[in-house]
Amino acid sequence: MHLLLVILFFLEAQFCVQSSDSNSPAGENLATNGLPFPWSKVRLPSYIVPVHYHLLIHPNLTTLRFNGSVKIEIDVKNNTNWVVLHSKNLKIFTATVLDEHEAHLSDKVLSVLEYPSHEQIAIFSPKILTSGEKYFLYLEFGAPLSDGFYGFYKSTYKTKAGETRVLASTHFEPTSARMALPCFDEPIFKANYTVRIRRGPSHIALSNMPLEQTVEIGNGLFEDQFEVSVRMSSYLLAFIVCDFRSVSGMTATGINITIYAVPEKWHQTHYALEAALRLLEFYEQYFNILYPLPKLDLIAIPDFQAGAMENWGLTTYRETSLLYDPDISSASDKLWVTMVIGHELAHQWFGNLVTMEWWNDIWLNEGFARYMEFVSLEAVYPELKVEDHFLDTCFGAIGRDSLNSSRPISSLAENPAQIEEMFDTVSYDKGACILHMLRNFLTNEGFQSGIIRYLHRFKYSNARNEDLWDSLIKTCSEEEFTAGEYCYSSTQATKNAYRFAGEHIDLKKMMYTWTLQKGIPLITVKRQGRKLYIGQERFLKIVLPDDPSWHSLQEGYLWHIPLTYKTSHSDYEMKHILTTKSDVLTLDEEVDWVKLNSDMNGYYIVHYDEEGWNALTELLRINHTALSFKDRASLIHNAFQLVTAGRLSLNRALDLIGYLKSETHNVPLLQGLGYLQSFYKMIEKRNIADITHNLKTYILQYFRDVIDKQSWSDDGMVSDRRLREEVLSLACDFDYPPCLEKAKHLYNSWVESNGAISLPTDVSETVYMVGAQDDSGWAYLLEKYGVSMCETEKSKFLSALASSKDSEKLSRLLQLGMDGTLIKTQNLPSLIYLVAKNPVGHFLAWDFVKKHWDELVEKFPLGSFGIRNIIVGTVTQFSSTEELREVENFFKSITEQVSELRVIQVATENVEKNIMWLSRNLETMRTWLQQRLN
Ligand code: BES
Ligand code: ZN
Repeated sequence: MHLLLVILFFLEAQFCVQSSDSNSPAGENLATNGLPFPWSKVRLPSYIVPVHYHLLIHPNLTTLRFNGSVKIEIDVKNNTNWVVLHSKNLKIFTATVLDEHEAHLSDKVLSVLEYPSHEQIAIFSPKILTSGEKYFLYLEFGAPLSDGFYGFYKSTYKTKAGETRVLASTHFEPTSARMALPCFDEPIFKANYTVRIRRGPSHIALSNMPLEQTVEIGNGLFEDQFEVSVRMSSYLLAFIVCDFRSVSGMTATGINITIYAVPEKWHQTHYALEAALRLLEFYEQYFNILYPLPKLDLIAIPDFQAGAMENWGLTTYRETSLLYDPDISSASDKLWVTMVIGHELAHQWFGNLVTMEWWNDIWLNEGFARYMEFVSLEAVYPELKVEDHFLDTCFGAIGRDSLNSSRPISSLAENPAQIEEMFDTVSYDKGACILHMLRNFLTNEGFQSGIIRYLHRFKYSNARNEDLWDSLIKTCSEEEFTAGEYCYSSTQATKNAYRFAGEHIDLKKMMYTWTLQKGIPLITVKRQGRKLYIGQERFLKIVLPDDPSWHSLQEGYLWHIPLTYKTSHSDYEMKHILTTKSDVLTLDEEVDWVKLNSDMNGYYIVHYDEEGWNALTELLRINHTALSFKDRASLIHNAFQLVTAGRLSLNRALDLIGYLKSETHNVPLLQGLGYLQSFYKMIEKRNIADITHNLKTYILQYFRDVIDKQSWSDDGMVSDRRLREEVLSLACDFDYPPCLEKAKHLYNSWVESNGAISLPTDVSETVYMVGAQDDSGWAYLLEKYGVSMCETEKSKFLSALASSKDSEKLSRLLQLGMDGTLIKTQNLPSLIYLVAKNPVGHFLAWDFVKKHWDELVEKFPLGSFGIRNIIVGTVTQFSSTEELREVENFFKSITEQVSELRVIQVATENVEKNIMWLSRNLETMRTWLQQRLN
């Protein structure tokens, strides 16, 4: 399931931002009681600043309501009668303003105006609040525990004995703290928090900070008081009341780490503890800043909309993102858990300690956290070979960024739906790839010392895009600069890029070209003798150079690109920085081949001339290990991207992967196989019988050796295990008889033992899929789904169930997902995607989405991961003009709600891409296959 989430995330994408109604003049906006609301903007005024929140909260797990009070110490910067702050779906019982001695400013009950469309309230103080003074705002409030996955929400789980238990947990990022308490809910308003929580005797309460003391307050209730927090943004606050069990350990630096889960899953928490201890110790060293809190909790919440959340000191996770059962979870499950922990712990610095000023720069959080997943795992868990997956991160970003509907890494976002949509593949994956390019450019040491400087400079405070670029390079004296130090000269304001043969590079200008404009560059290379003629243009997948819109789409696009290349005659990589549209490089000698973008460390695609591609194809055929596995994978990727863009013929790309028979590295192998498989999936859904049949035959013939070589076990290194998982799943999906036989056999023995024998974890999903193809197998798996206590196992059952070729069964699954009891609502988006990618289910899934749109939007708010995955997961299965029209019509019919969503444009542009691909390549594919198979 986690892989599925990752895939969905890659597929997912966005579009352009509309400016919100933040500029309407004051006075036009009416509060709910008909009086004018004193503030007209979506963002809060800056003249009232929260300093310290004292929060008391009491969730009642029987009535499913919570009550609370908050006393907020505020600084007033301008004289005013009004305090405007955020509040959403809360009933405010009382509001008062106190002076610095905590005396009431007025004996009247203060009136509270509500302005729901901006999720704001305003409190009127009869006495002017004067600039420079300190006041306290005191509010009492209450609400039902939220039903979804935001704010202070209800979660439930079932014990083995069948009893349902309730817990209450929070998820605030980006804009839901205001659903749990009235607050100044913007990242710039950092404050201290002192939290108290009331609970019954059979529960525990958790918050960001350690427990300070517990007081018995009568009526069988206890009040837990937590230590005062460090200065932080409201979206990082968290509190939970539950009855979980835990394991704890301590880092070398004395931080207490605890993993919590529902009691019966306690034995699945041990791996996470080990990983968290090691990763936290790594980050303390790498960032050269100690983790500032005394404790860090990691807790698996049974109902969770995202993958995980980095609340300071109390990180929350989906069960599949934290729990690991050595007997049941696979190698990739383990990798996933480790990466998620690596991600959330990185946020304790990138995000929590230093926070973006506003959501337009959320990539400063998410791009870094995504990139640190790779940096930390490579250092701490080299055996997990996380670097095998890094290129996939960039390929995912490129998929989005090569369509016109992409957006710059930093882009405008004002209202909650727009902000929510910023958490996309551009912020995460393109962000990470740009940082990777930068790290290779600056060297590991240069990069590390730069980010240490950035973290120190902005700790407990907020930063923007430009602050990062300013911090990365240290400033130095004229002498140091001239001596070749890697620094900004205090007088010259340029960087001495000693690695670039004396060229002076303005790093900020360079990085702006990657973060403030959308898209990915295409480098074209023509070789004549020792000369390389290089050009850059914007890479677009749908529009060809002879298209009338080509020029306007290219206009103004220019990147500063750190180029690297290797040749047949060099054993080290050469570098050149390209800051113009075109350039000429001169090689030292005549060479047989040139490969640009070494290891694909740069974020650009390369297109060679005819001879260039020939030479590389030949090189792969006769001596593929002359290139690194990343170079091989990136050549395959570039070639097929260029095919999609209509710049290279499909024949050439297929010839290039002709060498794969002798490929032994899983990354290029899976890259090539992945393309063939994705064409197969598209053609199969279009019911093009001859090509479907021939392509399947060809793939099975061509990759037969690799398939036959696989054992049905958990032996080997992580990379072997990943290859096995993918290859055997493909073989059985293609009905390869030896695969089906083996899987059937394993399935039967598993059923005979009533699930007691453990299947090899990496192939268990394939085994279940084969088992799910008949009525009794399907029913048995559904029954097992209902009783399993392991979420990674359940996700494998679900994907098997959704692979059935019986559409009634698929409908039943969707219904169960909608109902939310047997199949939890949190799993509905991935279930819809699973059904949509099944050839029997793709219309079914789409019809389901149309029919239940309103209910779906209620469960998964506009802009959320959930709704985006549902849209992209269903729509991108289409590849005909009729289907495109159908999709467009549907979105037009609900346009009011969705017109502001980027994801609609992204999804429809992906369908256009599919249509284009088929019209360009179908015949070529047909002939090519006929030639190979006859
Ligand atoms: N900060 C995010 C959680 C989040 C996501 C909040 C979207 C608001 C909107 C968290 O750090 C995160 O990135 N979670 C990922 C999982 C992670 C391993 C990439 C997620 O939820 O998918
Ligand atoms: Zn994150």
